[in-house]
Formats: sequence, C-alpha cells, structure tokens
Amino acid sequence: MTSLISLDAELPKEETIPTIDFGLLVNGTPDQRSAMVRLLATACEDWGFFMLVNHGIQDKLRDEMLEAFKALFDLTDDEKGSYIGAHVLDPIRIGSGFNLKTDTGKYSRHYAKIFVHPEFHSVPKPLNFRNISKEYSDYTRAIGLELLKAVWEGLGIEENRVADALKLRSCFQILVGNLYPPYPKPDFELGFAPHSDHGLFTLLYQNGINGLQIMHKERWIYVKPVPNSIMVNTGDHLEIVSNGKYKSVLHRAVLNSEMVRMSIVTVIGPSLDVIVEPIADLVNTDCPAVFRGLTYRDYLEHQQSNSLVEKGALNLVRLHTDH
Ligand code: OGA
Ligand code: NI
Repeated sequence: MTSLISLDAELPKEETIPTIDFGLLVNGTPDQRSAMVRLLATACEDWGFFMLVNHGIQDKLRDEMLEAFKALFDLTDDEKGSYIGAHVLDPIRIGSGFNLKTDTGKYSRHYAKIFVHPEFHSVPKPLNFRNISKEYSDYTRAIGLELLKAVWEGLGIEENRVADALKLRSCFQILVGNLYPPYPKPDFELGFAPHSDHGLFTLLYQNGINGLQIMHKERWIYVKPVPNSIMVNTGDHLEIVSNGKYKSVLHRAVLNSEMVRMSIVTVIGPSLDVIVEPIADLVNTDCPAVFRGLTYRDYLEHQQSNSLVEKGALNLVRLHTDH
C-alpha cells in the first residue's frame, strides 16, 4: 500500500460548502432560525459537512487550547507516562497514527484523546490544560447540543424524545488534539487515513493550516474554511439514528510540506450506555430499519480497536446489505 497521494481535490465551481450561522440559529427571529434549520438539514443530507460561523468561541480560547495541546505533545515520554498506549476506553490516551496495534500504513499524526463528558478528565501537565480544556469542552458541547436540537427539528422529530432516548444530558464527549509534522516532499502524504468519526457530530478547529479533505460526490474536496469558522462533520451515530438519511462523511487529512498543522477535534455522541438505534419515527414499512441497536460504548470499542477501513465500523450494526 502506498501512502503517497495527489492533491486532486478542488471543489467544482458551481458548488460551495454550506455555511451555518450559529447566531441566527440560536438568537435569530423565528424565520431566520427556520432558514438555518433547513440549511442545516440540507448540509447534513448533501454534504455531511459544514462550516459554522458566529459560534461565539473566542480566538483567544482556541489559541490557548492549541498551545496547551502543543505543550502536552512536547512533554517527554516519561512525563506522558501510562497515557501512551492506554486502552481505547481509558479516559486519557496519547499516541501516534490511528492505532499502533493495527496500523498498516505510515500515518504521521500525533494525538491526545481525553474524555471530557459526562465525567471531565484532564492531564496534570501542562498546568493550565485543565482550565482551558474545561472551558473549551463546555463551549463546544453546548454548540454541538444546539446543533443536534436543530437537526431533530429539521427531521420533524420531537426534540425531547430523542434527547431522552440518547440520554444527551450525559452525552459522551471526547476532546482530541492532533499534531501533524511537516512532510517535506513534493507529493502529499496522508496524516490521517480516510475514515468517518464515531459520534453524532464532530467539531474541528485548526491552527490556520489547511489539510482536511472530505469526500463529496465521490471526489476528495480540499477544505479551505472561512477564517475562524469551526468545521463540523456528521458521524456514524447520526447515520444510525437518522436511519441512513444523514450519512457520516468520509474524510482524511493531508500533511503540509512546511508547517506543523494542528487541529482540535471534539466528538459529541449519545451516552455511552444507551442502546442506540434508528429513531422510531424514521422507520416504517417503506423505510425499514437499516441498523440494529448497540451501545455507543461497544461501537466505540470496536471502531477504535480495529484498523481504520473507511466506514467499515458501521458494518457492525448494518442490517441490510443493499443499503
Ligand atoms: C479526526 C480527524 C482531521 C484533521 O481527528 O477524527 O478527522 O484535520 N482529524 O485533523
Ligand atoms: Ni475524523
């Protein structure tokens, strides 16, 4: 398997990545809100991806979070201690690639993954990591949950029923820092192989260096985000609960030839212990259930312990092969 890829990833001129204005969604007039709810529904259905502007997260907090992750990566292996090589369900895990035991390609990525909700965890060093990551996690979780409310509204489903079924009050949230060292060759090399994320939504903020690509209509699209926007993508659990209406988007990251690229990623999903299945309103004789029920915990353990083969983890719960 070769990991060298070319950068054939421009967006056709007639298409633009959807941009959602969070301010209009939560503080707009009823008309403005419904316009955003409709736009969000289209973004989820046609793209599985959008840029979020007017989200209220200060640049300062983003930069502090990036710095804190950088300082964490700079610690010695001794200081990182048992977090290196921790189990996939341990609350703090530091490593490289995707999964050391199963990686076949050479993917140049360092990561730190920290469970931040319903129980908040933090690394002890750097000293300011705890406060910054708490604030960052709380803000992004509030944004993610608002987006989900708007998703249920767009699907015409009563919000509280879904929130209860998925126990969103104790939603699972992971905070991930990614660091991609520069790769000084003329060809682009992948930092992160094509995959989908396991949760409902993933929110991604980067250090100003592009590198994320999403699959759209069978082509790789290189994302050049609106400055200061948060990139949001649909995850496998949104595909499961929406019974396949909103597919999780396949994405990957390419390396920059000169600059260190960093991203802060937060994944928001159902409570780890509820059995997740397609929302009953979206299942009927014309549209039978496409996925079986499984706890998010079991799904997560499976997805994180196996090699990353695009959207392969969804096969664990898929009921019909013709979808
Ligand atoms: C991820 C991911 C891409 C990036 O962490 O799941 O897809 O651009 N990251 O860092
Ligand atoms: Ni991802």
